[in-house]
Amino acid sequence: MNRQTITETEMDLIDALNWRYAAKRMNGQRVPEEKVERIKEAIGLSASSMGLQPYSILTVTDDEMKKKIRAAAYNQPQVVEGSHILVFAAWKEINDTYIDEYMERISDVRGVSLESLADFRNSIKKMVAGNSEQQNHEWAARQIYIALGTGLTAAAVEKVDATPMEGFVPEKVDEILGLPAQGLQSVSLLVLGYRDEENDFLAGEKKVRREKEKLFVEV
Ligand SMILES: Cc1cc2nc3c(=O)[nH]c(=O)nc-3n(C[C@H](O)[C@H](O)[C@H](O)COP(=O)(O)O)c2cc1C
Repeated sequence: MNRQTITETEMDLIDALNWRYAAKRMNGQRVPEEKVERIKEAIGLSASSMGLQPYSILTVTDDEMKKKIRAAAYNQPQVVEGSHILVFAAWKEINDTYIDEYMERISDVRGVSLESLADFRNSIKKMVAGNSEQQNHEWAARQIYIALGTGLTAAAVEKVDATPMEGFVPEKVDEILGLPAQGLQSVSLLVLGYRDEENDFLAGEKKVRREKEKLFVEV
């Protein structure tokens, strides 16, 4: 990539990030599947600690299910006005099976032996074993927020509106989606759709952000 291309890409990204906002109302228009797939692909490319990606992301498009989730999300309307809800759910337990599958994947993709990954495998297992269940959940949730941020940015690049949400009762959403039986716990939602310019009081409002000079500190 030459310098010219990089500059254009940077400008596009800043424009997209200025365009995006967390829509409070959406207009019901459905996001095309190919755009949802690109957003998912970007989420899948997110960084995660040790590369484990200790979460699953469920997609909800069913109207009845969305209504139930809205009720568990303090009645926030964008939950039903968006077309897709991505539910980011952390693994309840980071068990050996997940870690072993990860090692096998590295071995397959990179063509390295499982034996050569023994130290890496043990270091992950040691970290997990040394943490309480709560600490492991918080660690998994931190990885989720990175993926959530990637999804937000990817949606903006696709000119799709996206509302990140933690304004919901996780236990209720878990019950609606049957997550406990899948060893999962909901952490955050990403609602995808299109902004309702007429009814969203925030549509068209300026962004409020801390001044660059205060946010970034030169050392
Ligand atoms: C982790 C997280 C949780 C949030 N939860 C909600 C939510 O439940 N409902 C909502 O309307 N906005 C929610 N927001 C959106 C923020 O209010 C919004 O990002 C912030 O005010 C900055 O504005 P902007 O993103 O529109 O530029 C959440 C944002 C984040 C990052």
